Amino acid sequence: MSTYLITGANRGIGLELVRQLSTRGENVIATCRSQSSELHSLSVRVETGIDITCGDSIIKLRENLNDTKIDVLIQNAGIAEFNSLSNLDPRSIVHQFEVNALSPLCFAQTMLSNLSKPGKIALISSRMGSIEDNSSGGSYGYRMSKVALCMAGKSLSIDLRSKDISVAILHPGLVSTRMTGFTSNGIKAKESARGLIQRIDELTLENTGTFWHANGQILPW
Ligand SMILES: NC(=O)c1ccc[n+]([C@@H]2O[C@H](COP(=O)([O-])OP(=O)(O)OC[C@H]3O[C@@H](n4cnc5c(N)ncnc54)[C@H](OP(=O)(O)O)[C@@H]3O)[C@@H](O)[C@H]2O)c1
Repeated sequence: MSTYLITGANRGIGLELVRQLSTRGENVIATCRSQSSELHSLSVRVETGIDITCGDSIIKLRENLNDTKIDVLIQNAGIAEFNSLSNLDPRSIVHQFEVNALSPLCFAQTMLSNLSKPGKIALISSRMGSIEDNSSGGSYGYRMSKVALCMAGKSLSIDLRSKDISVAILHPGLVSTRMTGFTSNGIKAKESARGLIQRIDELTLENTGTFWHANGQILPW
């Protein structure tokens, strides 16, 4: 049994990761801003009031964790706001950068002393953060924030190799969640989480720093 800490665990992909990992017998610590009834029903340890952009709440989390060892840190929390060229809204772009890129990096750094060795960090990015894969343009804030998260993940994979911590940068697929307006074109969170868990299970120091689709495909930067 390993200990997993998952951010943004009250709904969507994060909730499903909690469900599947706890069902297979892992020890799960779920963090969220506010607990949902679905998360409450899973009977795992929940740390509420954790806004990943708020330094005080991350410090509170670390105090609550005390010397609890985390084997796998899954940084799933994220936002997507619409920014077309005619509707740039710099504040929205900065906010997405803060939530999707800067905060996961700072969160990982704060949690380092709690991470096991060997340990794993999984960053839930997006193929919208792939420059080579961008064929449709737009979504400035989201794309820019996720490409920055990919870069943070790559640097973390290099910097943490000597500490025996491996890092995966993951795309969950197009998933039917609130973020995508529960699109009928998307896969279910259940299928996405199954693939993400498989990728995390297969993560080693040999393949650290790779950008994977949940289905196992290696994505271009
Ligand atoms: N769905 C897709 O097709 C898709 C595709 C590519 C990548 N992703 C990525 O997958 C991850 C999960 O997305 P999802 O589809 O499950 O979206 P979702 O249903 O909208 O869930 C987003 C989660 O992030 C949390 N969150 C947002 N801002 C936060 C903050 N400042 N502090 C703490 N938690 C925060 C939300 O908490 P609240 O309930 O408190 O708002 C919620 O738990 C995201 O990183 C997203 O970018 C999703």
